[in-house]
This record gives sequence, C-alpha cells and structure tokens, in this order.
Amino acid sequence: MLISRTNYRIMSKKVAVVTGSNKGIGYAIVRGLCKQFDGDVFLTSRKDDLGKEAIKSLNSEGLSPKFHQLDITDQASIGRLKDFLQKTYGGLDILVNNAGIAYKQDSTAPFAEQAEVTIKTNYFGTLAVCEALFPLLRPHARVVNVSSMVSTFTIKKCSEEVKSKFLNNKLSVDELTNLMNEFINAAKNGSHERKGYPSSAYGMSKIGVSVLTEIQHRLLSADPRDDIVINSCCPGYVDTDMTSHKGHKTIDQGADTPLYLALLLTGSKSPAGNFVSERKIKKWTE
Ligand SMILES: NC(=O)c1ccc[n+]([C@@H]2O[C@H](COP(=O)([O-])OP(=O)(O)OC[C@H]3O[C@@H](n4cnc5c(N)ncnc54)[C@H](OP(=O)(O)O)[C@@H]3O)[C@@H](O)[C@H]2O)c1
Repeated sequence: MLISRTNYRIMSKKVAVVTGSNKGIGYAIVRGLCKQFDGDVFLTSRKDDLGKEAIKSLNSEGLSPKFHQLDITDQASIGRLKDFLQKTYGGLDILVNNAGIAYKQDSTAPFAEQAEVTIKTNYFGTLAVCEALFPLLRPHARVVNVSSMVSTFTIKKCSEEVKSKFLNNKLSVDELTNLMNEFINAAKNGSHERKGYPSSAYGMSKIGVSVLTEIQHRLLSADPRDDIVINSCCPGYVDTDMTSHKGHKTIDQGADTPLYLALLLTGSKSPAGNFVSERKIKKWTE
C-alpha cells in the first residue's frame, strides 16, 4: 500500500494516551503532556460529552489535546481506540493507565458488589487496555499504571499465604488474574476474610495493578522492542471527586509523578518495573 507524504508525516508523529482523563488526575496528566510532550496527546473519556467539555476547557488554556472515547471495561471501545491508533499513527509512545473507581467509605453497596465492580474496572479494565495497546508500543515507549499506596496498606493486611501468592516473583498474568477472581468469588460467598483477604475492594484492585506492573516489566524487558519502560505509581492524596475533595494535593501536584514516569528520558534504566511515589522508588510491599 502506498502511503502519501501527509499520511507518513502523521504516522511517524509521536502519540500519548491517558485513560480516564476527562477530570481529576488524568485531566492534569493530559495538561502536563500537552505542555511537555512533543506529539499528539489523547484525552480519553467513557462519556463523549464529558470528554469534549474537558477538551474545550484545555483549549481555553491554549492547549490542544485530541479526543477519543474510551471505556476501559468495554472491549469494543478499547478495540476502536486500538484500530484508530494503528491506522492513524501506526504505534503508541506513551500510555497512562489512570482510569479508576472507588466506592465511598460510607457506601452501603454489598461488599461482594464492591469487590466485583471495583476489580472489573481497576484491574481487568487496565489489563484489557494493556493487552490491546501493548502490541502498538514503539521502542522507547513509556507506560504508567496509576496504582496507590493503598496497595501497600492492603498487602500488609493479607494473610501470609495470600501475600506469598501475590508476591511470587514468577507469577504470570493468568495466575494473577486467577488470584483476583478467587478474591471476587470469596467476597461473593462471604469467605474472603476467612481465606486471608482484607475487606478492601479498592486495595485489592490496586494490589492487582502493582503486581501486574511488575509482571509486565518482566515481559517487556524480554521484548525485542528496545527501551520500553513501565512503572506503577501513587499520585498522593489528591483533591478529586474520588476523595470527595479531601485530598491535600491539587490535581497538577498529583499528576507530577505520573508525568515524570511518562516522560522518562530515552535509555533511562531506572525507575523500571518499580512502584514510584513522589518521584522516588518505593518498595510497595513494605
Ligand atoms: N485521588 C487520589 O487521592 C488518588 C490516590 C491514589 C491513587 N489514585 C488513582 O488515581 C487515578 C485517578 O483518580 P482521580 O482521583 O483523578 O479520580 P476521579 O476524579 O474520580 O477520576 C477518575 C477518572 O476515571 C474515569 N473512569 C472511571 N471508570 C472508567 C472506565 N470504565 N473507563 C474509562 N474511564 C473511567 C472517570 O470517568 P467518569 O468521569 O466518567 O467517571 C474519571 O475520568 C485512579 O486510578 C485512582 O485510583 C487517586
């Protein structure tokens, strides 16, 4: 197939995608990338109208992000973004997996529902986006999985047996997925505490994200594409809808570590496969 000169110029342009970026930390990550990244930046949102409003708001600051719909729990939506990136850019240079949900502390939703719904978005949604978009990653790509320090508090509350399963450094993605499903099933039949899991659906989902990142690092390190770096991070306690605006950091302060990781220089060896907080590597399991 012949590629016109204009198409070639667009296809060789760098491109970044931030999930769940119509508001909160994701929105600030898009703002930061628009200022610092030499390429197109995609603000994505599960709802078109919210995404487009967010684009308008950034336009009013003189920034020009692009928009694509993306619901990370919807395989067809993920597939549409993948096809679009493949056709338009032929690859992907930055992926920030930021989209996430958390039930409020005072939610009256049954724990089984909280476990299933939270893990569906935060773990399975993030995994589905990675599985679809990783084949597009170009050499020197950067991937950031937004996890949380809550994964640290939660792993400490797991029984030694459960902890050792999650922290097995030979764990595969399929085995991790089985562990996440085991937790959901235990929550559904009310046996999760007896089986050594704490009663934190969000915490368990973020253990999933932190462990997934370590596995993905192992896989990407063995990948023939050069210098693809993945890390997970905690943005800190941020003033967003998720925290009912109790967080002490602004969204731009919360975006600082994710942006630092998304913009790691070519060839940089560290952090890689780490959990990062305040731009520093933290052993999230301790
Ligand atoms: N805020 C904190 O203190 C804090 C601390 C540690 C970690 N984090 C993590 O940081 C990330 C961003 O959190 P935030 O505080 O900015 O939360 P937020 O203000 O509630 O924003 C969450 C974003 O994720 C989107 N989202 C939710 N489900 C989605 C789905 N299925 N598909 C696509 N997008 C979806 C939301 O879209 P809608 O507008 O459509 O709901 C929204 O854009 C999350 O992963 C969170 O766990 C936050």
